[in-house]
Amino acid sequence: MNALLEVKNMSVRFPLSGSDILAVRDVSFTLHKGRTLGFVGESGCGKSVTAYAILRLVPPPGKIDSGRILYKGRDIIPLEDDEMRKIRGKEIAMIFQEPMTSLNPVFTVGYQIMESIVLHMGMNKREARDHAADLLARVGIPDPAKRLNAYPHELSGGMRQRAMIAMALSTSPSILIADEPTTALDVTIQAQILDLLMKLQEERQMSLLLITHDLGVVANIADEIAIMYAGEIVEYGRTADIFRKPGHPYTRGLFRAIPRIGENRKKLRTIRGMVPTMTSSPTGCVFFPRCDIGIEKCTMAPVALASYRYKRAVRCIRYEGE
Ligand SMILES: Nc1ncnc2c1ncn2[C@@H]1O[C@H](COP(=O)(O)OP(=O)(O)OP(=O)(O)O)[C@@H](O)[C@H]1O
Ligand SMILES: [Mg+2]
Repeated sequence: MNALLEVKNMSVRFPLSGSDILAVRDVSFTLHKGRTLGFVGESGCGKSVTAYAILRLVPPPGKIDSGRILYKGRDIIPLEDDEMRKIRGKEIAMIFQEPMTSLNPVFTVGYQIMESIVLHMGMNKREARDHAADLLARVGIPDPAKRLNAYPHELSGGMRQRAMIAMALSTSPSILIADEPTTALDVTIQAQILDLLMKLQEERQMSLLLITHDLGVVANIADEIAIMYAGEIVEYGRTADIFRKPGHPYTRGLFRAIPRIGENRKKLRTIRGMVPTMTSSPTGCVFFPRCDIGIEKCTMAPVALASYRYKRAVRCIRYEGE
């Protein structure tokens, strides 16, 4: 299969005065052409920082500490800024978690989409305007020619999200990173946006990196899932396999926290304890303080992400495979 993006042993550090935060630790994964990889984990586990790192946009003083990011086989970490700018936006596009990070409130939606088309696609203004209107229509925005003149605040949340998707797609990227693209939206709109992403991804044979804290969101969309905890990938595998039999106790905890129809709300179990701050590398398993199957051995040495059949990888010494 065609590996488009390979992240190998990547760590991201925030050297802060007093405490050094290793926000992402030794993360490795592969994104294949035309496939969807879901990144799932609680708030603060390093999902957005991982995405920023791929675009080389980690906010200072944060920096990629080690590892490699291969895009089409070439490491992009050492690239000069102008070379990186050509990849960012054109080849790898991102829908940011905060809509207002991508949309500038003082310019119309049309202006912002056209700007990137003119810059990256070499079209003139007229062509860019037609292309932008086509894109708005494509993402389901009614009356697209008129909407080009709208300012971001004049659009509803769902429409704004569609406009962001149109902007991200404007240069026909081969990879789209969508960071919590539906979190701020109500449930019906959420489903529409996810359907739209899935359809576009299939049509364009684009690779999609879908980031969410919600396992339910990736269930129908992702081919494979990476579960992150405290900066590390603790489990990786094919979506169907993980849903059938989660291997890591943290993944099982996430499943237990999904509400089911008819279930007594009081029975809904949360995972006890809190995500630790990632200031230092712990001696043993990072999940140990919250784990319900931990044993003494778990605290003695760092736990590696061990590989099993069918691409499954689990960072738990108590996992024995299927
Ligand atoms: N600008 C920053 N300065 C210092 N530390 C940061 C910064 N951004 C992120 N971090 C650290 O990196 C960790 C991971 O943050 P990240 O934004 O990747 O989490 P996330 O998984 O995307 O969470 P959420 O679901 O809330 O979006 C944070 O807990 C924090 O310790
Ligand atoms: Mg985030």
